[in-house]
Formats: sequence, structure tokens, C-alpha cells
Amino acid sequence: MRLSRYFLPVLKETPAEAQIASHRLMLRAGMIKQQQAGIYSWLPLGYKVLKRIEQIVHEEQIRAGHIPLLMPTLQPADLWRESGRYDAYGPEMLRIKDRHDRDMLYGPTNEEMITDIFRSHVESYKQLPLTLYHIQWKFRDEVRPRFGVMRGREFLMKDGYNFDLTKEDALHAYNRHMVSYLRTYERMGLTAIPMRADSGPIGGDDTHEFLVLAETGESEVFYDAKVPELKLGDRQVDYDNREEVAGICEEFTTLYARTDETHDEALFNEIPEERRQVGRGIEVGQIFYFGTKYSEPMGATVNTPDQGKVPVHMGSHGIGVSRLVGALIEANHDEKGIIWPEGVTPFHVGIVNLKQGDVSCDSACEALYRAFAEHGLEPLYDDREERAGAKFATMDLIGLPWRITVGPRGIAANKVELTCRRTGESEEMSAEAAVEKVAAIYAAL
Ligand SMILES: Nc1ncnc2c1ncn2[C@@H]1O[C@H](COP(=O)(O)OP(=O)(O)OP(=O)(O)O)[C@@H](O)[C@H]1O
Ligand SMILES: [Mg+2]
Repeated sequence: MRLSRYFLPVLKETPAEAQIASHRLMLRAGMIKQQQAGIYSWLPLGYKVLKRIEQIVHEEQIRAGHIPLLMPTLQPADLWRESGRYDAYGPEMLRIKDRHDRDMLYGPTNEEMITDIFRSHVESYKQLPLTLYHIQWKFRDEVRPRFGVMRGREFLMKDGYNFDLTKEDALHAYNRHMVSYLRTYERMGLTAIPMRADSGPIGGDDTHEFLVLAETGESEVFYDAKVPELKLGDRQVDYDNREEVAGICEEFTTLYARTDETHDEALFNEIPEERRQVGRGIEVGQIFYFGTKYSEPMGATVNTPDQGKVPVHMGSHGIGVSRLVGALIEANHDEKGIIWPEGVTPFHVGIVNLKQGDVSCDSACEALYRAFAEHGLEPLYDDREERAGAKFATMDLIGLPWRITVGPRGIAANKVELTCRRTGESEEMSAEAAVEKVAAIYAAL
């Protein structure tokens, strides 16, 4: 992409309404525009990051054996009357009537609808286990939408639902979700800690929330200092292997890590004092096992091997896809702007031409642009007629992890400058070497 032809409406002023860094930076970097309280348009740069996050979520769900589909945002109230949640849900639910005066709602979550799909098409235990998920917009009429996309009213969520014959099978599905979530967040360059949680209005027995440590987080968290050091790394997981998957969950949930809702002071005080950590966290996901809470009232049953009929055991598992964009920025920024981890960056590398219109600079930039494209990478080429300072400020603000600077003096000596956004360190090298180095970093992801 050439910046002269892109749509990147950066703001010079810091927007007064934004209280936290991620919200300020998303507005300043031209990633989002607020349309109403808690409702945003995703401008091209923000949309690109959202899509990168979605892609990682899809890949890791499919790797775990879960199947994507897509349910509508609008749902009939009658389905929610079957589960009893139409009246129970309260003012967070946006209720709508169509022209025939039928009650509808903008889905805040999809347990009822997925249970309806299941009961319409699945009859036998032989069709289990089954986990279906989608990535779809949700609406919750939050009392206090704030912090930009972190607490929106309309927001994008991945929500998945498992259907199993027994509790034991459903707990394996729960564990599969935990491990696939750990992988998902790690690929984005985030450390998200699973913490035992309260089940809230969805109801259920087993539940963990995933929290990213950040001072601006809405939840208070208590944890053992050893927990954030745990890494899945590049180990290969066989998601069908129950012992292996359960073992990983145990590794990540044995040490103390809880939110204020489930915090137990006595247990916490058993940790050696120097390892006791109190901080704040952003909830980026949650997994639940809730047994037959929906399958029983809604009649989602299967035939069993011994001619019986039983309601299936279910769970639901969510990732805050749009909230993650904000959480990633909270965890990765400095005073100049965003610092994208390579896994989610909107463009892989920025090319800054210090002397637009100079034949040698222009042709070196064009050659770099083509070379990156040949490696399957997307560069953002700042080809505007602007001062060097303004070009650097834009690149720093939008946070591409790598920047290549091309100037007349360097080109005369066959040199460009490669700069790492995170460390600020620069190196001079040939254009070919710079392309190789950046390509190798992305190839290793
Ligand atoms: N208003 C919102 N704006 C953006 N993301 C949200 C919002 N509400 C929930 N999410 C994201 O969706 C995920 C799954 O939804 P879940 O039902 O667990 O939310 P929740 O527990 O009600 O969230 P919260 O406690 O933050 O209100 C959450 O972990 C969070 O990352
Ligand atoms: Mg939650």
C-alpha cells in the first residue's frame, strides 16, 4: 500500500474524551471512529488489525478440531423464552420489534440459537463430540461503555459451543478450549493468564477467564509471580489426547491466579511473600462448562448406545476479538505510539522515502516494495511529499514493527536504514540484506 493513496486519517490532537492509551492511540492513528456511545466504525488500519486477530483465532480453533459457522446477529425472542433468559437478561439486551410486531433481539451471545441448530440436526451420540463456533458481532447495552473498543456496546466476539455425551467428554472440550486459547494469545504476542472465575449470568460450574496484565484493566487480579512466565511455546499439541491436554491445563492453572471475584486471601498467603502479586487485568476471554443448563429446557438430546435419550453436556467459550485490539495496544505502546507485535501488525514493514521525487530514492523504494511483496509481505510505503520528521512520527504512531528508511546519501553507498520500532535501534545495510532480515523474522513466526 502507498500512503499517498491510503485512507489513514491520523489526528494531530489528542482526543479529550479518551481516558486510556489504547483508546487515544486508536483514535489518533485513524483506526476507529466513534459513531455513537460504544459503537465504532473500523477504519482501514483498525480493520486490518481486527482481521489479523480474527485469522489467528480461526486458525487455532480449526487446529483444535472446532468447526466454524455463522449465525445471525438478530434473534427471535421466542428462543430465549424457551431457556428462560428473555426475562432474566435485563436492560443489557437490545430488544427490537419487526413490522409484524414480533419480538426480536440483537444477540448478546448465542447459546439458545446454537442449541436450536443442534436439536434440529443431531440425533445420535455417534455424531458427537461436536464443537461449533462463530466470530460475529454482539450487542450488549452496557451502562457505561468506555475505553473505546475495550467496553463497547457493539463488539466482535468469537463464541464457541461444545456438545458432548458425558460430563467427562465436555470437560475434555473445556480443556481443549483452554489450550487453544493459550496458543491464540501467545501467537498475538500476549500473555493472557487463565484465572478461576465466577460464572455470572451464563451460569455453570467450571469457568476460567483469561486476563492480560495491564494497569488500566477493569479487574483486580492476584497471582503468583511464576504464572506469567509460563509459556506454551512451539510444542505440538495433540488435541485428541486427553491426558496431554489436561496436563497442559494443570500446568497453567495449578499456581495461584484469581480475580477479585474468586480471590481467597488465606490461599494467596500460602505463596511465598516475594511472589505474591496484586495488579490489574483485562479480560480477553472466558470458558465455561455448564452441563445441561440449555440442552434440558430446550430439548437438545441424543440417542445413547443403550437405546436411551439424554440431554447433551455443553459449554460455551468466548474470545473478545475487538477488545483484543485495545488490549494489545495497552500491552504494547510507548509515548510515540503503538508497537505492534509481528503476529498482528496491520502492515509488516514501513518504507520511508526521505526524498520523494529523487530518481534513485524513488526507484530504490519501488524495488523494496516489490521485493517484500515477492516474500508475501505487505509493506506500507510512505511516498508522500512530507518532511522526514512528519513521516517518522506517522510510522511511530501507527507502530509497524520494522521501518526501512531510504535517503539519497545512503542510496549512493547502496545502504538503507532498518529500524526496530520496539527497541528504536537502527542498522545500515544493503536493501537486499534488509529485505532478507525482515522476511526471515516473519517466516519464523
Ligand atoms: N462490552 C464489551 N466490549 C468488548 N468486548 C467484550 C464486551 N463484553 C465482553 N467482551 C469480550 O467477550 C468475551 C466473552 O464474553 P463474556 O460473556 O465472558 O463477557 P463478560 O464476562 O460479560 O465481560 P465483562 O465482564 O468484561 O463485561 C469477554 O471475555 C470479553 O473479552
Ligand atoms: Mg466473561
